[in-house]
Amino acid sequence: HFANVEMTPGDPILGLTEAFVADTRPGKVNLGVGIYYDEQGRIPLMRAVREVEQALALEAKPRGYLPIDGLPAYNQATQKLVFGADSPLLAAGRVATSQTIGGSGALRIGADLLKKVLPQAKVAISSPSWENHRVVFNAAGFEVVEYAYYDPTTHGLNFEGMLADLGKLESGTVVLLHACCHNPTGVDLTTQQWEQVVALVKERKLFPFIDMAYQGFDKGIDADATAVRLLAASGIESFVVANSYSKSFSLYGERVGALSVVAATRDEVLRVQSLVKRTIRSNYSSPATHGGALVAGVLNSAELRTMWEQELTEMRERIHAMRAGMVEKLAVHGAPQFDFIQRQAGMFSYSGLSKAQVDRLREEFAIYAIGTGRICVAALNTNNLDTVVAAVAAVSR
Ligand code: LMR
Repeated sequence: HFANVEMTPGDPILGLTEAFVADTRPGKVNLGVGIYYDEQGRIPLMRAVREVEQALALEAKPRGYLPIDGLPAYNQATQKLVFGADSPLLAAGRVATSQTIGGSGALRIGADLLKKVLPQAKVAISSPSWENHRVVFNAAGFEVVEYAYYDPTTHGLNFEGMLADLGKLESGTVVLLHACCHNPTGVDLTTQQWEQVVALVKERKLFPFIDMAYQGFDKGIDADATAVRLLAASGIESFVVANSYSKSFSLYGERVGALSVVAATRDEVLRVQSLVKRTIRSNYSSPATHGGALVAGVLNSAELRTMWEQELTEMRERIHAMRAGMVEKLAVHGAPQFDFIQRQAGMFSYSGLSKAQVDRLREEFAIYAIGTGRICVAALNTNNLDTVVAAVAAVSR
């Protein structure tokens, strides 16, 4: 049966990690996958998470199944974080949130849901977008098109092009928007630009699908959710939000995410949620307990939530400092053209490095980056910064 199966190309991001792990050179640096490492080069176990985890271990609770759509305490806390505690949508009962297997699980459940509700629609993603977006929406049966986003000449946003392309989409097209810390470019919209996009989405009757995987990684919990808050206030009746705690709670392998569906009325959202539950049940049945319990434990305790937000603030400030340090040091190495890195936001920078330059970084310097030139600035620290800067400057000459 399998004799004719051909080799499928490896994942451009996770496949690179496999190569990195197999590399035996000392001092290797992985700027490929989007993971936040601390100053010591370790994935942090956040202080508030550790507190909850220790309390849970002492409780030694049995592991029954969660409901299909997850832990209620997790879903309620997630809604407040995503939409804001005082959100009129929440007060009106127009949001249903389901705990999912990571942000990717939320994307896939959201995609499967929309395929049932909008079977003829296309999905529009930014050019470029996270490598897996196209794959997930294709797998759900959608044709995926692109809208202009990144401008390689400025290393910033091609806002005119974006508006023009969104304006040309057929009504009912699902538009995937990155709430903040755009992956892979690090190029975000200003609040004013979001206002324009939301107005256009409303006017053209597009269906917004927000992917928010980095809330709190650029400006803060509320500021990074500007896109969601503006959509919520726009009068647009329905949209969906996929969010992830992989990065903001440093819980990558626990696979903690959520899908929130906004509908026109309380009754409508109940019906849509019944379809979400059917979709989850037919896919992975119900989510996993541990990660959800950790996030809910932190978010539902005032003290631990403050502790978490403090640490998250330290993390984003460290990223900002690494961006600044990289730009400053590259200028010293005669490469001042990388100043845009400081204007980009979140974990990633589209560095402008070519595939050939990325190959040289890996082969000659044991520094791993994505072939598109995406680098994870959250993997930099004061110990590896000089090495990385010297190598980037060398391949840029
Ligand atoms: C990334 O883009 O590196 C992360 O979102 C991890 C992943 O699953 O690709």
